[in-house]
Amino acid sequence: MITFLQNVFYLQTKNTSYWFQITKHGHLEQIYYGPKLPIQDPTALIYKRTAQTGSTIAYDAADIYYALDELPLEYSPTGVGDYRFLPSEIQMADGSFVSDFLYDRHEIIDGVISLQSLPTAKATVDESQSLRIELIDALHHVRYELFYTVFFETNVITRKVRVVNLGATPITIHKIMSSQLDLPNRNYQLHTFNGTWAKETHQQIKDIQIGEYSNSSTTGDSSNRANPGILLGEKSATENQGWVYGMNLVYSGNHYSHIELSPHGLLRTSMGINPQQFQWALSANEFFETPEVCLSFSANGFNGLSGNFHHFINHHIIPQHFQEKLRPVVYNNWEATFMDFNQAKLLKLAKQAKNLGAETFVLDDGWFGTRNDDTQGLGDYAVNRKKFPQGLKSFADKLRSTGLEFGLWFEPEMVNPNSQLYKEHPEFAVQLPGKNSVLGRNQLVLDLCQKEVRTYIIENVGKILDETGATFVKWDMNRHIAEAFSATLTNQGEFYHRYMMGLYEVLSQIFGPRPEILLESCSSGGNRFDLGMLCFSPQIWASDDTDPIERLEIQGGLSYLYPPSTISCHVSASPHQQTLRATPLSSRFNVASFGVLGYELDLNLLTPEERKEIKEQITFYKKYRATLQFGKFSRTDTLKSTQKIWQAQGTDQETVAGFFQTKTQASPSYDLLPVSGLAENTFYKMTSKPQRIFIQQFGELIKHVTPVKLNPHGLVINTIAKHYSLTDAKEEYFGTGGLFASGVLLKNQFMGSNYNDQTRLLGDFGSTLYVVSKEEGKEVGQ
Ligand code: GLA
Repeated sequence: MITFLQNVFYLQTKNTSYWFQITKHGHLEQIYYGPKLPIQDPTALIYKRTAQTGSTIAYDAADIYYALDELPLEYSPTGVGDYRFLPSEIQMADGSFVSDFLYDRHEIIDGVISLQSLPTAKATVDESQSLRIELIDALHHVRYELFYTVFFETNVITRKVRVVNLGATPITIHKIMSSQLDLPNRNYQLHTFNGTWAKETHQQIKDIQIGEYSNSSTTGDSSNRANPGILLGEKSATENQGWVYGMNLVYSGNHYSHIELSPHGLLRTSMGINPQQFQWALSANEFFETPEVCLSFSANGFNGLSGNFHHFINHHIIPQHFQEKLRPVVYNNWEATFMDFNQAKLLKLAKQAKNLGAETFVLDDGWFGTRNDDTQGLGDYAVNRKKFPQGLKSFADKLRSTGLEFGLWFEPEMVNPNSQLYKEHPEFAVQLPGKNSVLGRNQLVLDLCQKEVRTYIIENVGKILDETGATFVKWDMNRHIAEAFSATLTNQGEFYHRYMMGLYEVLSQIFGPRPEILLESCSSGGNRFDLGMLCFSPQIWASDDTDPIERLEIQGGLSYLYPPSTISCHVSASPHQQTLRATPLSSRFNVASFGVLGYELDLNLLTPEERKEIKEQITFYKKYRATLQFGKFSRTDTLKSTQKIWQAQGTDQETVAGFFQTKTQASPSYDLLPVSGLAENTFYKMTSKPQRIFIQQFGELIKHVTPVKLNPHGLVINTIAKHYSLTDAKEEYFGTGGLFASGVLLKNQFMGSNYNDQTRLLGDFGSTLYVVSKEEGKEVGQ
């Protein structure tokens, strides 16, 4: 995996190569990152230095062609002639910001290298190999250690940096990126995943021209504004073809990525902690470690790249106990009740949820203190006795007797000024002395830099988990950090990072000893959807937006970086409370099924027909759950921007494909559904998942399917609708994998007539799932 030969480091994954060399002056020069090449003399790939470019600074008077500004570098020194974005800025003991780190030594180690204060990817010694390179600034007595780990099978290489102050005087770090990667320009586009509350991870694509671009968060969390993960794809790249690079950070706080194209066509990308409001004092013999960056490359388009990341996250990021472990179907009471509930109401919902096939009941916000609305109670842990007269354990026991597991919501990082905790310990909250605090959702953030605060959370959450026997936790975090200040710090520039280290310590202390508890993290939806949280929580609530049409964008965006097993998706009531859009129950399920499925609508309001539909949905999901959660997920390029196709392929090539339509067309053109990844000469059968169409959807048009004319608003139709529905078109196709790859022409969509079970009645927001499975015993002829 890692070879060092004639001053060149060769990092080889299954399908990629990452090479760099030590220059004669001791800098690390990036040579190549792309499709796998056999180890060989790399001279042809190296930037030639035969002419001096105007305005450059020669690093060495005796070697005037060696200018750092023109070199692709692994980690540039500061202030010695590289004028692009620099990865570090340290004020040295002599007061200067100049540094020149040169190669000193290296070692190759089997397995991964962990960090003391931050989570990192995990792997066995057979799956991974690491490289530690020491660079020294001899003048300032500072050492940089660059770490690289190769995760062979997944085509991921991680990087991180440790700075050690070897001198006797303190130094100050103002900026320290985890990685720098310089690549030759190939007309790349930058893909970022931006949004806001209820609108997370919408893919944004920008052409990269000469100049600078950034992707960052300053909110104290990884944020819904800009997910830390970014992609660089050739402009011509499609889902299945073309060169694509991906980068993501194992970190949940303020992050920063910088992309710069130089006038000579060198593309620099850097990723790490956001330098804004960051400053770290490093005394003699102390060290600072950066979060880990995960890099990946694929020559097989965006699906190739996201496939690498999915494989990597499922095997090397999420907690060991949950690797390949099927996630339960959850019923969560949030959208059904908000905080207006009591034990009897919840148990009634639980019984129905169990009946429909749910496996875990998650009690959401509102069970503790005086929390009847969002102005009070956060920070307190005493159960609300009005809602649970016999306590939470008794409720959990009753719930389990319905056959469901018990899950519980917490928001441990927060406090309402109107709470018992704040009355007793106002000093626990993040506040700037002498200033009235700004609030978010009526709450303040607890200062995780303080040990007492961390202990308070660890003890209270731990106690409740042990008492109630909860097997599922939803860990929420519903406001950004502002007015960052901790009385425990002498250097407030350390606040944001120390908060993160504090959070990771809290999570390790609570869930380390309780590895079997499934943790779902959440931050007003997907405000903290990142690899740092995934190291503790195998799944994350993707968005407070449960409208499936919005979810196509949100889950679709996430899918470029994260696998379906990590994306928590619920079916909710329609019209949706986030958009007022009305969508079919089938589409709500069809979209949610490409992730970890749950329901959060008021089950008391379902008609018998809807209950049947949901029961069948959950049965279907359970049957194909391994494929939908852990199969190979991919997106299919479609001709129409109003259609999306996703597929998940499991073992034995069993495939579930979803065809989604966001807007219908009058007299639509034919629809093609290609299914990729099947064995070319093996026979398969494709069938559509049966789904109901509720008759109210047709309004007055119902006259076309009923023998007598009925008032669409009348009692008769409403009564019929409770017990009778139409079925969507039944489709069944046979053929070889090669045939399916070229695409199945689906049955017609509705075109102003033909309400029959041969016509696809999709309309706006309609969708269908198809299952493709092997046809046993059929041989291919000539
Ligand atoms: C956040 C979460 C929701 C719900 C509420 C409870 O908004 O994202 O799912 O848990 O908090 O207050």
